[in-house]
Amino acid sequence: MTRLIVVSNRVALPRDRSARAGGLAVGVLSALKRSGGIWFGWSGETSESPAPQPKVMKSGGITYATIDFTAEEFDAYYNGYCNSTLWPLLHYRLGLVEHSRQHQDAYMRINARFADHLAAMVRPGDVIWIHDYQLMMLPGELRLRGLRNRIGFFLHIPLPGPEIFCALPAHKQLMGSLAECDLVGFQTESDLRAFRDYAQYESGGSLRPDGAIEMFGRRLRAGAFPIGIDVEEMKSLAAEAEGDEEVRRLAHSISSRQLVIGVDRLDYSKGILNRIDAVGELLTTRPDYRNRITFVQIAAPSRIDVARYKKLRREIEGCAGRVNGKHAEIDWVPVRYLNRVFPRRQLAGFYRVARVGLVTPLRDGMNLVAKEYVAAQKPNDPGVLVLSRFAGAARELKGALIVNPFDQVEMAEALDQALRMPLTERQDRWRKLMGALQRNDLATWSDSFLDTLNTSERAAA
Ligand code: ADP
Ligand code: F6P
Repeated sequence: MTRLIVVSNRVALPRDRSARAGGLAVGVLSALKRSGGIWFGWSGETSESPAPQPKVMKSGGITYATIDFTAEEFDAYYNGYCNSTLWPLLHYRLGLVEHSRQHQDAYMRINARFADHLAAMVRPGDVIWIHDYQLMMLPGELRLRGLRNRIGFFLHIPLPGPEIFCALPAHKQLMGSLAECDLVGFQTESDLRAFRDYAQYESGGSLRPDGAIEMFGRRLRAGAFPIGIDVEEMKSLAAEAEGDEEVRRLAHSISSRQLVIGVDRLDYSKGILNRIDAVGELLTTRPDYRNRITFVQIAAPSRIDVARYKKLRREIEGCAGRVNGKHAEIDWVPVRYLNRVFPRRQLAGFYRVARVGLVTPLRDGMNLVAKEYVAAQKPNDPGVLVLSRFAGAARELKGALIVNPFDQVEMAEALDQALRMPLTERQDRWRKLMGALQRNDLATWSDSFLDTLNTSERAAA
């Protein structure tokens, strides 16, 4: 029997599901719930002497196999290479990239360790689906261990063009490893184009007339598979949450004002500072909004040991404080900032109460929050999505108000337009957005990736 083995750094274990924010865990969990299979990855824990074998547990048709890292490995691999080197680079932030050989070596070692564990677990015929930038060396490491199984890799975050990607000293090793896959998937056509450009102009490879890519002596397929959400799940969560205590508290506290909401991991790619400033800009240029709107920014702590993330947290506190200091009144503050994780159902309820979903990343692979916000709306009185053109989701969500997050004035104008939008236009836009979500939901994403993987075969070029 063919088994699906999903591999990712982050695993949404049943015990800590509500405590982890992030699109990958949400997407992979829903996909695996449908098909069943094995989910292999990091336990989320560090220990002084990690067990030689993965910890295995079963729940709801999924087998979870996880390993620990030592604190030193976690620091060099996760805080270092993954989140101080690759993350900023792949989000087009060359100025934030830190690079050290020690971190790079740790990344290579952890990817090799993943391969050792997997090689002991995989049976012929199993299909292996590897996720995201933390594991770009894994396909190559698995081939080095003689595995001939079908291997697919999906990048959840953007891929910049070779002009940026090649700033990474190990760019050739990483791309050489991806070339060992049968199928490599991206969120958007523009990420796919960057991969093709690398193959053509950097690796000396070529694009074949049948769409296959030749690079580093291998022939493989690549495609854009934009990740979707479980629309029905989000719809019913939001409807059910309406009566919940926390959601009612929020609605009550907003009273007759209009709620604008932002929900993100606390990450500089999300554009939270620009967004708070845009709210300030709106209140400065259109003071009639004073005491008539409330902006709630929920930011889940993320990568808390990485210096740039610590700095961002302080910057957000400062920025929210400045806007509140300037505009607040004795009985009203414009910005409420909550630095915590909320259960999914509560988030769904919060989305539904909000007249505007303000989703304005500076760069984002997809951004599931944008899609969740739309799915959670009341059909007869939906809110408006204001969406950054630099989120992968902007390619599909044409019914949103699309903005440039670097342009504060444009964002303030879009906010104004959203807050004043008549019901019929809100309904028209929402129907269009829902159509897009339903045409490409989470099931379509995993089915189309896995169907393509099952019919792709790598070969020597
Ligand atoms: P990323 O993968 O970069 O974190 P996405 O927007 O694609 O960005 O996915 C984020 C996921 O994490 C969404 O499913 C969202 O609901 C969830 N999430 C974000 N912030 C929070 C939070 N404060 N509490 C709980 N879940 C959150
Ligand atoms: O979706 C992008 C992503 O980087 C995932 O790879 C990751 O699991 C998620 O965001 C959250 O980040 P982390 O796993 O570092 O908490």
